[in-house]
Amino acid sequence: LEIGTAVAGGGHHLEQDYPDPFTYDQTYRKALAREFSSLSPENQMKWEFIHPEQGEYNFAPMDAIVEFAQRHGQEVRGHTLLWHSQNPAWLTEGDFTPDELRAILKDHIQTVVGRYAGKIEQWDVANEIFTDGPNPTLRPENIWISALGPGIIADAFRWAHEADPTAKLFLNDYAVDDIGPKSDAYYALSQELLAQGVPLHGFATQAHLSFGYPFPATLELNLQRFDDLGLETAITELDVRMPLGENGRPTQQQLEQQADWYRWALEACLGVEDCNSFTIWGFNDKYSWVPVFFEGTGAANVMFEDYTRKPAYWALAVTL
Ligand code: XIL
Repeated sequence: LEIGTAVAGGGHHLEQDYPDPFTYDQTYRKALAREFSSLSPENQMKWEFIHPEQGEYNFAPMDAIVEFAQRHGQEVRGHTLLWHSQNPAWLTEGDFTPDELRAILKDHIQTVVGRYAGKIEQWDVANEIFTDGPNPTLRPENIWISALGPGIIADAFRWAHEADPTAKLFLNDYAVDDIGPKSDAYYALSQELLAQGVPLHGFATQAHLSFGYPFPATLELNLQRFDDLGLETAITELDVRMPLGENGRPTQQQLEQQADWYRWALEACLGVEDCNSFTIWGFNDKYSWVPVFFEGTGAANVMFEDYTRKPAYWALAVTL
């Protein structure tokens, strides 16, 4: 089982406050090398970041992560190729025909996956393609699906597979930890893609957990049913956020509950044979996306801002 983290950088929530931690924070880099066997780019491979202008790629930040991973014997998870969010303006505001869009996506996938072929073990090919609620549908705001139809999902997997036949190709989403309408939609889609012979190799749940909801009690069962389809599974973006009081600090009781939740998530993955990657979405509260995106909450990661370890860190360490 690989234990991974997102590599901070490029996030809208960081730009104002910090220089890129992966480049400038030596304590951060040391922890990254010491604590983890897998790295995920938090933003550095998203379209708006790696493909900021049409036909112009910004590979340097991702090259640096891949090089770091190779030097430290770590795996890398690619994130992501077909998503509705964090796309560059040239793409979303451009005036393209369906044929042009198809060519743009194919070229992007072949270029990016091809560049890192053999160096990226798992790819989140399609990210967050279903809507929430009781009757999930493919997201209308996904430009690829809305312009090209649902068949583009299979094509994206095929193109990625051509560009790197050794990489394991995943579906990835949030709010699919439990068995429920949204994960059911993925289950049905997975069966369909597999029946069509599409190179789909894995199902991943992000696991952005919150004390505002119960712990996803069917997490292991859910992963197991995808495992039973012959897919690998992964937890790709685990964090556990909580409401914070005026002093902005979690209580001891919250920290202990958080430790339980991290441990339960790890145990769920350990209980499923081909759950091969367990990734937390950052490890240090200092660089977390959570307070910016979920106002009034925070403290979602396993280390405090000063790099001291929380109960959640030790809960993972003793469970492994
Ligand atoms: C988040 C990053 O953490 C932020 O830095 C960025 O500003 C927005 O995206 N699901 C995903 C991730 O698939 O890519 C998101 O990452 C979190 C939710």
